[in-house]
Amino acid sequence: MITVKDEKQIEYMRESCRIVKETLEFVGRNIRAGMTTKDVDELVYRYITSCGAYPSELGYEGYPASSCVSVNEVVVHGIPSDRIILDGDIVSVDITAEKNGYHGDACRTFLIGNVPEDRKRLVKVTEECFFKAIEGLKAGVPLYDIGYSVQTHAEANGYGVVRALTGHGIGREMHEDPSVPNYGKKGTGMRLKAGMTICIEPMINMGTHKVVFNRGDGWTVTTADGKPSAHYENTVLIKEDGVEILTL
Ligand code: MF3
Ligand code: CO
Ligand code: CO
Repeated sequence: MITVKDEKQIEYMRESCRIVKETLEFVGRNIRAGMTTKDVDELVYRYITSCGAYPSELGYEGYPASSCVSVNEVVVHGIPSDRIILDGDIVSVDITAEKNGYHGDACRTFLIGNVPEDRKRLVKVTEECFFKAIEGLKAGVPLYDIGYSVQTHAEANGYGVVRALTGHGIGREMHEDPSVPNYGKKGTGMRLKAGMTICIEPMINMGTHKVVFNRGDGWTVTTADGKPSAHYENTVLIKEDGVEILTL
């Protein structure tokens, strides 16, 4: 079900999203080579709970941690572990926070130390994909224009757009309708409405768009060719005259 939020609900969304944004800034100031991905998860847990919020990934469909920490070839849902973050890695940290019954959701891909030029460019283009997608976005725009913009920019740069995972609506539930793919045909899909809150989250691969789901742990998604992947996400409010990026 697609939900449209009223002013009061939007205020709650702003609050959860502000906590998500601050948490990612805190992670950005502290993440470094030599840490494990579990150390990163501890930073996330500590910061979000200190804000009186709950890291709502923890326990979500049995997910065992407060963050998804995905290194290099891990696309998304990297479970924090003893994996040591190395100089030159790109590490995406995807988190959600719930306060007053509403969720915020965002992801940043951090550059660790001396990162090779091709990886840096992947991260930069992935962020650009998000900003291309929100250009001109407002109530009345067809949903799949978002994916069209992401795909056009990513493929123009020679990258693969992950198809198997998408963005989504968000609110009282972390994942609400509609699904927001990173590919699509311009001018198609439902028309966005003012008051909708959605997560736009390009997941872009340096090589093939194909991914592999780890059947062992039930979560980790990696690139099929082992090449790096980047992820960038914000929670966005659709307005009559544009958008408000709630996690920025
Ligand atoms: N934050 C992710 C998203 O962007 C969802 C994480 S799934 C979880 O949709 F299981 F880790 F919570
Ligand atoms: Co997320
Ligand atoms: Co999301």
